[in-house]
Amino acid sequence: MTQTTEVLRPDASDIAHASKLLRSGALVAFPTETVYGLGADACNSRAVAAIYEAKGRPSFNPLIVHVADAAKAQRFGVWSDAAEILATAFWPGPLTLVLPLRPDSGLSSLVAAGLPSVALRVPSHPLAQSVLNAFDGPVAAPSANPSGRISATTAAHVMAGLDGRIAAVIDDGPCTVGLESTIVGLTDPEPVILRAGGLPQEALEAALGVPILTNSVAKVTAPGQLSSHYAPNALIRLNAEAAENDEVLLGFGPVSGDLNLSETGDLIEAAAHLFGYLHELDAMGRPIAVAPVPEHGLGRAINDRLRRAAAPR
Ligand code: TXA
Ligand code: MG
Repeated sequence: MTQTTEVLRPDASDIAHASKLLRSGALVAFPTETVYGLGADACNSRAVAAIYEAKGRPSFNPLIVHVADAAKAQRFGVWSDAAEILATAFWPGPLTLVLPLRPDSGLSSLVAAGLPSVALRVPSHPLAQSVLNAFDGPVAAPSANPSGRISATTAAHVMAGLDGRIAAVIDDGPCTVGLESTIVGLTDPEPVILRAGGLPQEALEAALGVPILTNSVAKVTAPGQLSSHYAPNALIRLNAEAAENDEVLLGFGPVSGDLNLSETGDLIEAAAHLFGYLHELDAMGRPIAVAPVPEHGLGRAINDRLRRAAAPR
C-alpha cells in the first residue's frame, strides 16, 4: 500500500486540506508539543485500522484520542472531580487522562482496543489545536513512528519512518517537549500514573493535594493483560469453517457467517469491524466460532486479539 506522502505547510490552506484528508479517512501526521502524532478520525474504524497498518503494530494497543478542549473530552469519557482538577490545571498540555468510556461516545471500538476506558488528551501545540478545530472532531493519534521505533519529534523523522504509508505530514518544526504525555488513569477510585511523561509526577501531586500511585503502562498493554479487560462472555473457537451446535459464526472472506469481518477478505475492513462485531455476537449469548483469518499484515494483529479473546480463563 504505497502512496505519495504530502509534506504540508502550517498555514490555513494546508490545515484545511489536512482536515479534509482526515474527514476522508486518510492518515495525517501533525506536531503536538510532545511528539508528532499520526492522526485519524477516531469515529471511523477503517481510518483507525489504517493507523495500526501504517505503524505495523503487531497488536491493537489502545490509542489516545485528541480533542480541542475539556468540554469536548467530556463527550467521550465519564467525567469526575479528579478529571476536573487535572484538566483545569494541565490542559491544554502534555497530560492524557484515561476515563471510563461513555457508552454513547460514538468512537470506533478499535480506538480503545475493546477496553471500557478511553485515553483523552488536549494538546497545547498551536498547530495541533488548529487541526483539531478545523477537523472539529476527535482525532486518534499514536506517536508517528513505525511500531518499535523511537518517537518522531520532527517531520523529517516522520518521513523517515512512514513515507509512502500515510497521506500527509504537516511540518511545523521540532516538538518542544519531545517526550510523550504523562498518562493518568482515572478509572479506579485512586488516580494512577500509567506512563511517566512530559508532565512530572510532582506537578500532578501538587494539583491533587495527595501522593499519586505509579504503575507501568506496560501492565495495561502487555499481552494477556488486555484480554482480562476485554474478554467476551462467550466461549470462542478459532479457525472455524462452519458453526457447530449452538454457535454463532463470525465470518471472513468466503466463510460467511452471522456477521462477516470482510466479505472481500480486506484485512483493514476486518480490523475495523473486529471489536464491534465481537460485542454484537457476544450479546447473543451463544458460543462464538470465528473463521480463519490469514496471518499477514493486519491479520497478525487481528489473530493476536482473537487468540487472547479465546484464551482459557
Ligand atoms: O504525547 C503523546 O501522548 C503522544 C502524542 C501524539 O499525543 N501520543 C502517544 O500515543 O504517545 P501512543 O499510541 O504512542 O501511546 C499511547 C499509550 C499507550 O501506551 C497505551 O497503552 C495507552 O496510551 N493507552 C491508550 N488508551 C488507554 C486506555 N484506555 N487505558 C490504558 N492505557 C491506554
Ligand atoms: Mg508510541
